[in-house]
Amino acid sequence: MKRLLLCLLCISTVKSLAVIDYDDEDSDSPPKVHVETVDARGHRPVDRRREPVPTLRPVSPPISKGGYQARPTKSPIRGQKKEQVVYSDAGGCRHASDQLGVLCPTGCELQTALLKQEKTVKSDIRDLQDKVHKQNEVSTSLYQYMNTLEDKLAKRQKQVKDNENVISQYNTEIERHYTYIRENMDNNIPSSLRVLRSVVDTLHKKIQKLENAIATQIDNCRTSCIVSCNIPVVSGKECEDIIRKGGDSSEMYLIQPDSFFKPYKVYCDMTTQNGGWTLIQNRQDGSVGFGRTWDAYKKGFGNIAKSGGKKYCDTPGEYWLGNDKISQLTKMGSTEVLIEMEDWNGDKLLAHYGGFTIQNEANKYQLSVSNYKGTAGDALMEGASQLYGENKTMTIHNGMFFSTFDRDNDGWVHADPRKQCSKEDGGGWWYNRCHSANPNGRYYWGGQYSWDMAKHGTDDGVVWMNWKGSWYSLKKMSMKIRPFFPQ
Ligand SMILES: *[C@@H]1O[C@H](CO)[C@@H](O)[C@H](O)[C@H]1NC(C)=O
Repeated sequence: MKRLLLCLLCISTVKSLAVIDYDDEDSDSPPKVHVETVDARGHRPVDRRREPVPTLRPVSPPISKGGYQARPTKSPIRGQKKEQVVYSDAGGCRHASDQLGVLCPTGCELQTALLKQEKTVKSDIRDLQDKVHKQNEVSTSLYQYMNTLEDKLAKRQKQVKDNENVISQYNTEIERHYTYIRENMDNNIPSSLRVLRSVVDTLHKKIQKLENAIATQIDNCRTSCIVSCNIPVVSGKECEDIIRKGGDSSEMYLIQPDSFFKPYKVYCDMTTQNGGWTLIQNRQDGSVGFGRTWDAYKKGFGNIAKSGGKKYCDTPGEYWLGNDKISQLTKMGSTEVLIEMEDWNGDKLLAHYGGFTIQNEANKYQLSVSNYKGTAGDALMEGASQLYGENKTMTIHNGMFFSTFDRDNDGWVHADPRKQCSKEDGGGWWYNRCHSANPNGRYYWGGQYSWDMAKHGTDDGVVWMNWKGSWYSLKKMSMKIRPFFPQ
């Protein structure tokens, strides 16, 4: 049990540690409560009493000159006593002289004697009758009393018997329960304990494994990652230039767009749609946080590429090339951008813009795109397809300036400094009020997420509304550019 509690504690600790990111200077502000959970978000509706209707920013079309030339899970007691009545003897007649003894009585003498005696006998008889009567009464009441007692006794005996039955019944039941409990003690409890113990053991082992893995990772992080891959000898101004020079494998290359820039590393996709693509943005595993400052977006961050086992960096990392570099690359001439995305089932869609130009820092890296074609929906120029009217318009990205949580250039003009698209939506981007597409948003593992998972209750995932709506964060998203040329 203690271990389980400890384990829960570990999990909550890890959870609380995991919330450090892009807008921490602002993390004491209470999260917003939203009633609507599944509908389209993206936009920030207008409060007409206080705000003017937002308008789009004018932007000149992307550069169209200078492209390239064509290329090849819950007895009772019974008795009666009878009284014996004893009568006394009657006397005989006497002779004149006593010495003559006693003679047989004559009739008269007999009568007199009998009469004399009769008196006493009568009274005796009365007496006796009385007594008998009384005795009779007494015995009757005794008899009754006895009967009553007898009845009571019978009842008691019955009760005793009943009680005995009940007791024995209870005894049987108790015995049954005892047997049951005993069996359970002997069999089930030890086995349940065994099961629990093994569960705890397994958990313990898992925790140990995790601890080891964490320790290993901490070790690995002591020194910064060094990518050791061979960089191909072939180089160029960007990937198209390289492929034209014979660099036809997709991997990391060194490029130097013009002689005023130091040469830098970049991943070149040399297979998709004839290759020649310079990867300027890539999301694929959430390994790199995209809630970064203006300066980080300016210079670029993340990992350009890693080795997939071979001697060269053939696998792209998660990165943002850097606004200065992107601007510079797109200003060299007519540029096209290919935005590729993949959901958690492996389905893939894409959006392609034939024209793509990013202004320089002085012009807040303003975005200009044109000529959409593709399967994902034209988020950048038309806005979210789930929204209508001005709500839709405020999700258009074309013509927007670049914003980061520390530099607000979005199309949401509000007096509250917390109401900034980049602070609410998680990344640096050409936010309007706010977005239909959020490729630099927070990475949510598994795709579906909800406002209560988001830091500010807004749809801050890696979103492309026109395909999956506001509450689905894509698994992969990448942006690659190439100088335009007639195919
Ligand atoms: C814009 O969105 C708000 C709330 O999100 C809604 O009340 C309003 O009707 C929407 N306007 C249009 C034109 O769809």
